[in-house]
Amino acid sequence: MSRRRSSSSSSSSLARAITMSSSSPTSSLLSLLGLVLVVLVGLLQPTNGLANCPNGCECDDDTLMVNCGEGRLDVLPIALNPAIQRLVIKNNKLKTIDSSMQFYAQLTFLDLSFNDMVTIPERSFAYHAKLQELHLNHNKIGQVSNKTFTGLSTISVLNLRGNLIAELEFRTFSPMVRLEELNLGQNRISHIDPHALDGLVNLRVLYLDDNTLTTVPSQLTFQSLPSLAELYLGTNSFMTIPGGAFQDLKGLTRLDLRGAGLHNISAEALKGLESLRYMDLSDNRLTAIPTAALQRLGRLEELSIGQNDFEVVASGAFAGLRELRRLELTGAQRLRRVESGAFTANTNLEQLNLSSNKQLNELHANALGGLPHLSSVILKENQLSTLAEGLIPWADLQTLDLSENPFVCDCQLMWLRNLLISKNASNQYAPVVCAYPATLRDLPLAQLSEPLLGCTHGAANKQAIIGILVVACAALITTLALVLYTCRRRIREMLKGHSALGRKEREYQKTFSDEEYMTRPPPGCGGVHPAGAYPCSQSQYMGSRPIPVTEL
Ligand SMILES: *[C@@H]1O[C@H](CO)[C@@H](O)[C@H](O)[C@H]1NC(C)=O
Ligand SMILES: *[C@@H]1O[C@H](CO)[C@@H](O)[C@H](O)[C@H]1NC(C)=O
Ligand SMILES: *[C@@H]1O[C@H](CO)[C@@H](O)[C@H](O)[C@H]1NC(C)=O
Ligand SMILES: *[C@@H]1O[C@H](CO)[C@@H](O)[C@H](O)[C@H]1NC(C)=O
Repeated sequence: MSRRRSSSSSSSSLARAITMSSSSPTSSLLSLLGLVLVVLVGLLQPTNGLANCPNGCECDDDTLMVNCGEGRLDVLPIALNPAIQRLVIKNNKLKTIDSSMQFYAQLTFLDLSFNDMVTIPERSFAYHAKLQELHLNHNKIGQVSNKTFTGLSTISVLNLRGNLIAELEFRTFSPMVRLEELNLGQNRISHIDPHALDGLVNLRVLYLDDNTLTTVPSQLTFQSLPSLAELYLGTNSFMTIPGGAFQDLKGLTRLDLRGAGLHNISAEALKGLESLRYMDLSDNRLTAIPTAALQRLGRLEELSIGQNDFEVVASGAFAGLRELRRLELTGAQRLRRVESGAFTANTNLEQLNLSSNKQLNELHANALGGLPHLSSVILKENQLSTLAEGLIPWADLQTLDLSENPFVCDCQLMWLRNLLISKNASNQYAPVVCAYPATLRDLPLAQLSEPLLGCTHGAANKQAIIGILVVACAALITTLALVLYTCRRRIREMLKGHSALGRKEREYQKTFSDEEYMTRPPPGCGGVHPAGAYPCSQSQYMGSRPIPVTEL
């Protein structure tokens, strides 16, 4: 028989079993038997364990799990099965971890999140050599010391997010040599002892985001973390990053500095981050793209740098980021202009998100040129009124979002309209909607005809060009006539000379009869040749023999 016990659910599951058996028409006897069983179990349970499983909890002795959902427990239950491996008491009213914790030394997973714990007594986990995950997030813990976690030699995940910790003391986490993930986000940490994280040689992920740090933790702090791969430092107030701050984090692949209060990032700040692939610099106060600092990140694949204070993305702003595949530059309230060649160095760019830059109205004609892998371009919610033809390598685009821009739908956007139609874009791309002129407001560009886009102006232009050509030709002819008129005497002389020569030639030709001329093989040409062929140089006949019309 299963030893699954639950204060409320064990009897109800038996009741279910009974109703099931009574639903079968043949066995009313069986249901009677079941009833007897329920009574028996009911009688047995108080001595065997019902008292061990507190109200609102589920205790499973097969899987050795106890799960207490939202409830009013204010102390740790004292009489749970001492063999339990998994204990979850979330959303209760626990105030502290008392000595009953030591009875559950087989625990591998302990979740006491969302309670009211203010302190964790020293050595609370001294007997928990099997614990792998400890979740103490979202309590009111104000302090942890280098004795708090004594004994946790196998722990790999420690979550302290959402507490009131103000300081990380000397060697606080050193007993946890196997720790891989440490979450200290959303606390009030303003000071970190340079040796606070000593001993965490296996730490891969560290959250220090959403604290009150005013300086990036010292180089010494990071020196003791040789395995660190992900570092979250956002929502602090750093102002700046000292040169070489991260230079010992050779294996770091992700650095999150979102909302870190950065005003500038010096050229040396990101030195040594040779494995970095993901970086978030959004929501800071950067007044320029930190081109020199970023240049060191030769392996960066994803960068978010929106919500900053720069006004321009200059040519070569992301120079050196050859591996960059995704760039998000959104919500930059002051950004007005993206210059030609802004992304030229980033030849592997695939996705570009330039949305919600409410003042962005200049996207230079070659701003997105030379990006053969570009497949997604988001230009939503900017201040663009028109787009230069050939702006984007449109041929390979899979996603294009130009919505929520104040487009002026005139003949300049004719090319875009044609493109949208040719791509059957209505289902693939977000619609491009006109804002101006007023008569076309809110109409989708793709549905407008040439005349509606004012492309008759185009025809007028053609007429103008033709007009100019006609005038130019007339002027040329007049000039020529004038030249001829003024030089008429010289021309006449030249013509005279020519005609004299012509007469001499004719006289010379008269020495042969016409027949002779036709049959005589020209000097140096062997015999008669098939008609139409000119085996001898034509110049011998030039001026003396009219070339038959058929041969012209
Ligand atoms: C704990 O920290 C104190 C100072 O705060 C220090 O004297 C002591 O040696 C530390 N203990 C361990 C085990 O690191
Ligand atoms: C960076 O910003 C900080 C804080 O605003 C300022 O004190 C420092 O002079 C700036 N450094 C550079 C190189 O602009
Ligand atoms: C582009 O950025 C905006 C704002 O950050 C975001 O809401 C949107 O999901 C992003 N789009 C894509 C395709 O990544
Ligand atoms: C365009 O899309 C519509 C709606 O999905 C579809 O019915 C139509 O066949 C498509 N036309 C072409 C030319 O692909």
